[in-house]
Amino acid sequence: MSDALTNNLPDSTLVSEFTAVQHAMAEQLAGHERLINRLLVAVITGGHVLVEGSPGLAKTRTVNCFANLLSANFSRVQATPDLLPADLTGTNVYQQHTGQFNFIKGPLFNNIVLVDEINRAPPKVQSALLEAMGEKQISASGHTYVLDDPFMVVATQNPIEHEGTYPLPEAQMDRFMFFVQVAMPDPQLELQILNIVLKEQAANPGTATAKLNDAHISAAKKAAANMYLSDAIKNYIVRLVTATRGYGAGGRESQAIEHAASPRGTIFLAQAAQARAWLAGRDHTLPEDVTALAPDILCGRIVLSYHAQARGVTSREVIHRIMDSTAVL
Ligand SMILES: Nc1ncnc2c1ncn2[C@@H]1O[C@H](COP(=O)(O)OP(=O)(O)O)[C@@H](O)[C@H]1O
Ligand SMILES: [Mg+2]
Repeated sequence: MSDALTNNLPDSTLVSEFTAVQHAMAEQLAGHERLINRLLVAVITGGHVLVEGSPGLAKTRTVNCFANLLSANFSRVQATPDLLPADLTGTNVYQQHTGQFNFIKGPLFNNIVLVDEINRAPPKVQSALLEAMGEKQISASGHTYVLDDPFMVVATQNPIEHEGTYPLPEAQMDRFMFFVQVAMPDPQLELQILNIVLKEQAANPGTATAKLNDAHISAAKKAAANMYLSDAIKNYIVRLVTATRGYGAGGRESQAIEHAASPRGTIFLAQAAQARAWLAGRDHTLPEDVTALAPDILCGRIVLSYHAQARGVTSREVIHRIMDSTAVL
């Protein structure tokens, strides 16, 4: 290994702080390792996460647990059909004693914002959120306000079939780095869940010890951004993403795709692969970083054709087929 590479080895103490958080979360959440990893990768890269799954699968619990392990400001918004953009951004309030309007900041002015059941929020609220997520700033009453750093949105949604929901528009889906779908547990996992909850209710709630602060996060962000990414891996990422537009060997699968992944897919996949490599304590990105993350990054960025949907094909299946026919060169 060359000196240049050895000098780039991750600061192992910093990596272990993140690994401690990963372990602490895994102890409280049965079978959510993938989601936990995506949350950490997202916090390192400044990405946002959308979690989809039926009620009761510990989506809210996971985000609460994550926020508790970061010394970050945390807010939670329960989306409902009557939610207004100002309920997220904040609003001007008349101050009687001064005779002036003062801007009272809303829940978006926090480091981690959990938007629960985002697809119950009306489109105007979703677009206010879109500005915040994309620009890391908000406009309210003719002013622009810069949001905190780090700023991370974790949104949850029920599967689209549920009644009374507004599916997120493609532009909104594109702002999320990850789209993680969580499934119903099998019997073995169900027992683990039961044991975790029984143990919890019997014991005094312990205080979480592993804490990541702003300094940890910004140091990790910098380290991950400098993680070596070879031309071969860049090329692999580009070929995966452009296959959704019909290019290359995987391109034939794009017949099932109505809307392909945008360049954000490429950028997020590269950044996330770097962060995954850093979390694993490596000094370079491997193709396996890309293959592990590609489904959770790409499947939310494509929309299948009506025809494919009618045949019961899923976005995840299409992405997997693209991956099967796209080799690392
Ligand atoms: N995988 C899991 N690990 C640990 N607890 C779980 C798990 N799945 C469900 N639970 C339990 O179910 C409860 C419901 O979780 P919650 O976060 O409210 O679900 P959701 O937000 O997905 O509707 C949690 O408080 C937790 O006790
Ligand atoms: Mg919930």
